[in-house]
Amino acid sequence: MDLLDKLVLPQSAHHMVLIKYLLVLSNMLLVPYLSVLTGSLIFSLFFKHRAEKTNNTFAYRFAKELVDLVTFNKSVSIALGIVPLISSAFGYAQLLHLSNVNVSNFLFLSALFLLAALIMIFTFKYSFHFKDIFKAADEKGVGTTEYEKEEISKYSTNTNSMNKKAGTVALYLTIFAVYFYVGAVQLAIDSERWTADTNVISILFSLTTLVNFLQFFVGSLALTSIVILYKYFRPNSEIKGEVGYFEYIKKFSLSNSLILTIAFPLMIAVGTVVKTKFALSFMVFAYASASILLLLFISSLIYLMLKENHLRFSLAVLFLYVVVFSLLIIKDQYAFDTSTKKQFEILAANYTEYETNLKAEFGIGDVAISGADIYNGRCIACHAFDKKLVGPPYNETLPKYDGKKDQLVKYILNPVKIDPEYPPMPNQGLKPKEAEAIADYILTIYKK
Ligand code: HEC
Repeated sequence: MDLLDKLVLPQSAHHMVLIKYLLVLSNMLLVPYLSVLTGSLIFSLFFKHRAEKTNNTFAYRFAKELVDLVTFNKSVSIALGIVPLISSAFGYAQLLHLSNVNVSNFLFLSALFLLAALIMIFTFKYSFHFKDIFKAADEKGVGTTEYEKEEISKYSTNTNSMNKKAGTVALYLTIFAVYFYVGAVQLAIDSERWTADTNVISILFSLTTLVNFLQFFVGSLALTSIVILYKYFRPNSEIKGEVGYFEYIKKFSLSNSLILTIAFPLMIAVGTVVKTKFALSFMVFAYASASILLLLFISSLIYLMLKENHLRFSLAVLFLYVVVFSLLIIKDQYAFDTSTKKQFEILAANYTEYETNLKAEFGIGDVAISGADIYNGRCIACHAFDKKLVGPPYNETLPKYDGKKDQLVKYILNPVKIDPEYPPMPNQGLKPKEAEAIADYILTIYKK
């Protein structure tokens, strides 16, 4: 986005590190939120489909409650979804300024899709609840007049079809939002792909993007299963229902989280291996390995819960999962750091240039050293070119320095006693660069 590029101010290296920390922070809010949002929507649609096919009331109730999982509050969706995405877009605009790649555009696109997805998810949620109310009203024959009865029956059908459509559209929009987000982050890491011909096609079909997209889905379904376990089975859970319903959820979530927790490390390993060689470093491998080991440990905890039929570790597992997500985000940040070293040198140089120009504008910069200025300021009191003043005329003393500028510089920096006819020359306290400039100046003038 050109507009965004214009807003970019050159940043010092310290500021750039700060921006990177902010990126990590906003990803730590966004990724878990987006994961549970995606996971709960997928599960909800899955159970809704199952309920329609088998007439299972548990499945139906679960489908309805699942979509409430992360949509309890609209401002939370904005704070954890849209805001981090937009701030990442600004962050990347600063960090990738002057490069050929435009990661921020993809992040903005992702934010737009997410906004649309959220609207549809909330529509899905409300139509889910309204549809049941209308259905109940229709079945009980609520309404006194024929017109009222007709209205209720009409809205019952409408809400039903709205609920169907909203769910499917929400799923597509969420998938696009996630895909563009993952694609943007991977494109930022993959500096090899930052050529002028980077377009939507190449972002959509890069191997790293595809693998990381799949990794996101496995992670998102796993995290959602764990969140469900925690939400339904924590000691003071507010959800009430039949024992059979809880058993149904428990069986599904536990076995599901076990399978996904075993599949997740595989995805992480593949995702790390397919990264561009410029992004790989010891830290990337260290963080990838740490997350894989932690997942193996988590899977053994889940296995124990499944085998011994209890849920004692569900809080610990949820906590460890958040740690895994953080490790993965830091891992990607290291990959980004490694592969964008060159980019940061360009930015640092750009900042130095910007700073020098700014200083010059305010007249506080390092002004260029001029031999003429030094001569007129310091030497003219005792030296002329063709007549004797306190010191000897340059035309007499300079011939011996012809082609020996180094020696002249040395003398000016540290004058020694030479001619008994003259008093000694006082040290002028010049800096080496200044001595060189004045030596150049008097040598060229005397030759003329
Ligand atoms: C306070 C007076 C004074 C000032 C100011 C002064 N000089 Fe001198 N300079 C002398 C005197 C006196 C001599 C002769 C010293 C000697 O022969 O020992 C001399 C000698 C020299 C010589 C001849 C050295 C040689 O090998 O014979 C050069 C070259 C020279 N000055 C350059 C400079 C330059 C360049 C500056 C200004 C940055 C400067 N001087 C400022 C007094 C001065």
